[in-house]
Amino acid sequence: MMRTKKTTRLSLALTGALALGGLLATGPGIAHSQEQSGGEVEAAIKYRQSVMSVLGGVMGTTVGQLRDGIAYGPELQPMAEALAAASGDIPALFPEGTGEGETDALPAVWEEREAFEEAAATFDEQARAFAEAVAGGERAEIFQSFRDLGEACKSCHEDFRD
Ligand code: HEC
Repeated sequence: MMRTKKTTRLSLALTGALALGGLLATGPGIAHSQEQSGGEVEAAIKYRQSVMSVLGGVMGTTVGQLRDGIAYGPELQPMAEALAAASGDIPALFPEGTGEGETDALPAVWEEREAFEEAAATFDEQARAFAEAVAGGERAEIFQSFRDLGEACKSCHEDFRD
């Protein structure tokens, strides 16, 4: 029974990691366009929310893996890699002109762009640190860097998400 549950969770995580890769590869990519129609704005908002949802799923899965002691080694690698792959691209998910509509992004994302990009850069660093810790296999470091990574999510949400 337990076994089935764990396997399911792991394969869900893998699906999430793959979906994230796909999302990042095929996003609407309107970051560089000057004029945006309502449809494009809506698509950009949906796109970033789904990337964030995948991040949430990957983080949740990793919590489960660590807490239940399922994985401290190669099984964590796809999660860590998905997080690191997504982390460099956060500001591009919030192009100018996508602050209105069905979004929880606060105006501060654009009004305090430097601080937002700093929060994104911190997150990027933590995601890479976590990936390195996973590759290194040191349990204490894996836990610590994962905690720091969670803090980076939380801290950006506190300042920039409604
Ligand atoms: C640099 C800022 C920043 C970082 C870092 C960040 N987020 Fe977010 N996140 C946001 C903002 C802003 C929104 C609101 C987006 C919107 O509604 O358009 C959001 C939304 C979300 C959502 C809701 C998505 C939805 O369906 O509406 C989830 C879940 C989420 N983030 C998870 C995470 C997780 C997990 C991490 C870390 C692994 C993370 N975020 C890192 C800024 C950030």
